[in-house]
Amino acid sequence: MKTSGNTIFITGGTSGIGRGLAEAFHAKGNKVIIGGRRKALLDEVAKANPGIETVEVDVNDPAQIQSVSQELVRKYPALNVLINNAGVMPFDDVTGPLDDAAAVSMITTNLLGPVRFSGALIEHLKKQPDAVIINNSSVAAFIPMAMFALYSATKAAVHSYTLSHRFALRDTSVSVLEIAPPWVDTDLVYKSGVIEIDAPPLSEELKKRWSYFIRKVYETDPLTCPKCQGEMRIISFIDQPDVVKKILQHLGLWEESQAPPERHPAIKELTFDPSYSQLI
Ligand SMILES: NC(=O)c1ccc[n+]([C@@H]2O[C@H](COP(=O)([O-])OP(=O)(O)OC[C@H]3O[C@@H](n4cnc5c(N)ncnc54)[C@H](OP(=O)(O)O)[C@@H]3O)[C@@H](O)[C@H]2O)c1
Repeated sequence: MKTSGNTIFITGGTSGIGRGLAEAFHAKGNKVIIGGRRKALLDEVAKANPGIETVEVDVNDPAQIQSVSQELVRKYPALNVLINNAGVMPFDDVTGPLDDAAAVSMITTNLLGPVRFSGALIEHLKKQPDAVIINNSSVAAFIPMAMFALYSATKAAVHSYTLSHRFALRDTSVSVLEIAPPWVDTDLVYKSGVIEIDAPPLSEELKKRWSYFIRKVYETDPLTCPKCQGEMRIISFIDQPDVVKKILQHLGLWEESQAPPERHPAIKELTFDPSYSQLI
């Protein structure tokens, strides 16, 4: 994909990864339009980045996806990149009864959102000489996190759909790409429901502990070292900087200039709930 000169529509551009992508592509000389529900944040991003344009859209609503897609094609005939980024990650306790409404809402946002937007824009994209659909899945698509079981499943579905879509469109001008971010410290987890953001004064501390916890539980299955085929685990799981250093050296990825980050004081106090031990 060329990195400048595109006209890019990004869903979920009001915060986190979507906003980061929007600002980075904007800075590189692309026309960027962001979508999201929170009007105040859409306005904030546009104000901070003159030239970025915005559209209010709820990806849970198929009618809005249709009307916004038509508006995008009309206003931005050169639109050639769709980034399906909007997503939510509420907790689900799969050991108990299902919250049906929450489950349907998450599947609608995370899976049907990208599928519907791609469907609504595909005929337009096929007319562009060089078009790209980018779906934001997650590491959780490949390594399920049991306490986000349905979230992980939606992301695995996004991954699967991306593979099929890429294959099906192989003879067209549309490339279908996937980004599968690892843990990124955005609003996503704070909005998940475990942390009471308004509960002072512990909230900041809890956020930090939670961030660390999430990083640890991304780990579930052994991986294979691409260099020696040995069994290995995801580096983010490992606490000790010297071990991380050895692994990176083994892989030829260690950079002397890059010191391992300092651990936050909260991390030292972390106590682990043994009920999650089957995950690690
Ligand atoms: N953070 C991570 O560690 C991580 C890792 C892997 C993948 N991801 C994926 O990255 C994507 C972005 O997440 P993030 O971490 O950047 O979190 P975030 O800051 O919470 O961003 C989520 C974005 O999705 C939008 N969104 C959510 N529901 C929507 C809806 N119904 N309609 C329209 N927009 C909606 C939000 O905008 P509004 O609320 O304004 O609508 C917001 O802009 C998600 O798909 C997430 O699964 C995140």
